[in-house]
Amino acid sequence: MKQPINISIDGPAGAGKSTVARQVADALSFTYIDTGAMYRALTYEALKHHVDVHNEARVMSLLKDMEITLENEGMTSRVYVNEEDVTDAVRLNEVTNNVSFIAKHEKIRIEMVKKQQEMAESKRTVMDGRDIGTAVLPDAEVKVFLTASVEERARRRHQEHLDKGIPSDLSVLIEEIARRDKIDSEREFAPLKKAHDAVEVDSTSMSIEEVIQTILQLVRERTNGS
Ligand code: DC
Repeated sequence: MKQPINISIDGPAGAGKSTVARQVADALSFTYIDTGAMYRALTYEALKHHVDVHNEARVMSLLKDMEITLENEGMTSRVYVNEEDVTDAVRLNEVTNNVSFIAKHEKIRIEMVKKQQEMAESKRTVMDGRDIGTAVLPDAEVKVFLTASVEERARRRHQEHLDKGIPSDLSVLIEEIARRDKIDSEREFAPLKKAHDAVEVDSTSMSIEEVIQTILQLVRERTNGS
């Protein structure tokens, strides 16, 4: 049997983690796990049921009652909550602007980490998030901390919006990304932080392909072709 290997990719919002993680997983035939989508799915459920995102106990009882499933379909990752396809819904602005509040709650994080560890059990995975290298998969063979400047991350998001015909304002995006960075890195429990053994890759002036090749090279070095 193939030995399990895990690759963690952490970093701030908009650094390109999901695009890169998905393509690295595809190149290696590993399973891609988007943990942000899980926090987003819970946020979507809370908003749908008019549950206050700041009320940890109420959000927790929602989480206990829901089953979150991630499925990879080619280069698309589908997200299901109790069999409802919420892939597009979890990307709505309202979800994006509330998810950091949900992700602050300690009990919620403990439950999510448990689910994520089960998903990675005896598999070869590429998992992206904020606390993968530090909390979810502390023994991951390869750990990457992917960053880019706030302006560059906002510029990329702006371009994505324009490509999709979504109205977009670059200065608003810069503010929103900076605000999310602040909440994610200043929260008390499991803040966004580079693991001591992670390799930092600053993608500000790199193409996606360069980032992918850098990570694949790290994987080759660390796993020695196993
Ligand atoms: O990667 P993303 O933008 O889809 O993540 C959505 C939010 O979830 C983001 O504000 C940070 C949070 N998150 C987290 O706290 N821990 C993770 N492992 C993944 C995401």
